[in-house]
Amino acid sequence: MGTTARNFIFLLLVGRISARCYDPSPAFPLPKLDSYREASKFEHVLVGLKESLEELTLPAEYDTSSFSVEITSSHGTLWETHHTARDKNTSRPGAATVDGTSVYRMASVTKAFTTLAIIQQHIAGNLSLDDPIDQYLPRLGGEIPWKDITLRTVASQLSGIPREFTQADVINEFSNPLVLGLPPVDEKAEGVPQCDVYYAYDRPCNEDDLYKDLATKKPIWPPKQKSTYSNYNFDLLGLVIEKVSGLSYTEYVKSRILQPLNMTSSSFVKSSDSTAVLPKGGTYWDVDKGIQRPTGGLYSSTSDMSSFLRYVLKNYNGLTPQLNWFNPGSYSTTRSSFYGMPWEIFRTDCILSETSRPIIFVTKGGSHPGYYSSVIMLPEYDLGITILTAGSRSLKAKIIEAVTVALVQAAEDVAQSNLKYRYTGEYLSPSKDLNSSLVLAHSDAKSLYIESFVSNSTDVIAAWQNLTGLEENFRVQLVPTLLYRDEQNQRGEIWRGLIVPQNRNPGLVWDDFCLTDEDSDYYARKPLFEMVFWEAQPGGKIVDHVDISAFRVRLDRKHTEHVSSEEAADGASLKGAQMGNYGDGDQVVLNH
Ligand SMILES: *[C@@H]1O[C@H](CO)[C@@H](O)[C@H](O)[C@H]1NC(C)=O
Ligand SMILES: *[C@@H]1O[C@H](CO)[C@@H](O)[C@H](O)[C@H]1NC(C)=O
Ligand SMILES: *[C@@H]1O[C@H](CO)[C@@H](O)[C@H](O)[C@H]1NC(C)=O
Ligand SMILES: *[C@@H]1O[C@H](CO)[C@@H](O)[C@H](O)[C@H]1NC(C)=O
Ligand SMILES: *[C@@H]1O[C@H](CO)[C@@H](O)[C@H](O)[C@H]1NC(C)=O
Ligand SMILES: *[C@@H]1O[C@H](CO)[C@@H](O)[C@H](O)[C@H]1NC(C)=O
Repeated sequence: MGTTARNFIFLLLVGRISARCYDPSPAFPLPKLDSYREASKFEHVLVGLKESLEELTLPAEYDTSSFSVEITSSHGTLWETHHTARDKNTSRPGAATVDGTSVYRMASVTKAFTTLAIIQQHIAGNLSLDDPIDQYLPRLGGEIPWKDITLRTVASQLSGIPREFTQADVINEFSNPLVLGLPPVDEKAEGVPQCDVYYAYDRPCNEDDLYKDLATKKPIWPPKQKSTYSNYNFDLLGLVIEKVSGLSYTEYVKSRILQPLNMTSSSFVKSSDSTAVLPKGGTYWDVDKGIQRPTGGLYSSTSDMSSFLRYVLKNYNGLTPQLNWFNPGSYSTTRSSFYGMPWEIFRTDCILSETSRPIIFVTKGGSHPGYYSSVIMLPEYDLGITILTAGSRSLKAKIIEAVTVALVQAAEDVAQSNLKYRYTGEYLSPSKDLNSSLVLAHSDAKSLYIESFVSNSTDVIAAWQNLTGLEENFRVQLVPTLLYRDEQNQRGEIWRGLIVPQNRNPGLVWDDFCLTDEDSDYYARKPLFEMVFWEAQPGGKIVDHVDISAFRVRLDRKHTEHVSSEEAADGASLKGAQMGNYGDGDQVVLNH
């Protein structure tokens, strides 16, 4: 290798370190169902959470409120809690005691089902997400530039079309809008839709009402310029599903999603009062949303929604080659909020105070008068939360705050305890003739990292620093790739070692700029710090040995004496010891 080449590599290395990603994420493999179930601290947090949620409802303003909360991993439900309103309508009380099969109105959470149906039709080849919507709905006309509006932009809230059909017009919302100083108008002459039973018109709106109204509407802004929430988007997607599948929207969702996922409490038709959560004073339960069902018509329960979330958590990156269903499609206004399809995505670094690692919440919320619902998924922890409330509007936000903060802290603890238990310690060469060893250490803030690495009597980290001229204080952090050497049997977890500078410079604005770049240097075509971990037997809870690819060496883990008894007590998966069988709750395949 000539001098020029050497200098070139030197510059590359320097360039690499200045990318400055301080906290790679995710820094642990997906926690398994058993890890959650067996972690005593996790259970303890959930017991405390149940109490805090009950406490939230103590004020008199929540006398008429009921709620249901369920937490599931992609493999099975972990926890649920329910609260029945203290004060119910005695002449129409609904479900006597609220439980996991009690039915609420899901409102806009329905949009996730409508979007899944569109994705299924994309997979079936019956439509493409990138087709313009008027290709399927030729009746669309008026001033909105439908030719430039694709199904993908519609599902991502990027169409730029107006938000509402009958809702949000104060002529409908308030009995006397003239108190605002508005002039009297002739409702019919102005073209106000004469439908929607919630507003005391005598029938739900139909397809003709919708096209007639849309023909008079103007865009909010140009297509895909900027996201803005629109219910209309999903009414239209419902019509597209009918057009391409030949089924009614409700029949489609029932036969292609609800039935295969065994969502037996879920329907677009209200259930009997005996299972209904009916808030006192609420009137929305009985409202048939007509043509607006695809935007908010679903009735469901926490137990059914967990089934849906398990499906989504398992498949979000496997539905089609074009799509990771959890990725954002556009920015929202704040730096931490994004729209997906139809997900509402929130990234925050306010929960884990020890690191600045942001947590990603993939959510969809819904509200109807008296019903406020949310689903929230945490893909890095393999968790999904359903929060359904009936009664007061303000309760849901309080439950979300309490549940998500406690859950992230508890799940993080499970993930970190697993790292400590499963991987840390000393790994030695099985051959006495070779002085090679690896020590993996862990801290909650740094996750798993190389504490020392000796290869054939050479201190690798020191030599690397010396060779590359790295002056900064750095560590080699290990990051799971979620790939396996043996994919079929899910054995031989592949991890990458990532050079992470330790000292932030918070004074610099651009210090926070981090472009993920996890493929570091190679030696003779093998990644320099790639490590492949193996258990002794399939499904084993602890790692038995590691292959360090570039160094062409296998090191055996010295067994777990290093785990102190205190750590063992906290260790997420210590109960049940060496072998674990991570049962796969429900493997459902939806036919697309
Ligand atoms: C695709 O469209 C055809 C024609 O409408 C329909 O019969 C078929 O069921 C659709 N395929 C799927 C998988 O929905
Ligand atoms: C479907 O759900 C019902 C009610 O929740 C339950 O009794 C039944 O066992 C489930 N069936 C399957 C195949 O999971
Ligand atoms: C109670 O239910 C009855 C029967 O549906 C209804 O007429 C009444 O308006 C309800 N009252 C309240 C406060 O919800
Ligand atoms: C260890 O180092 C010695 C001396 O440099 C070298 O001859 C030998 O090939 C090395 N062995 C391995 C397994 O790397
Ligand atoms: C192995 O190599 C390390 C690093 O050079 C050295 O500190 C240590 O003493 C060596 N151990 C043996 C047994 O040679
Ligand atoms: C660092 O590099 C210098 C110059 O190449 C060499 O003399 C020294 O032994 C190296 N030190 C280590 C710890 O590798």
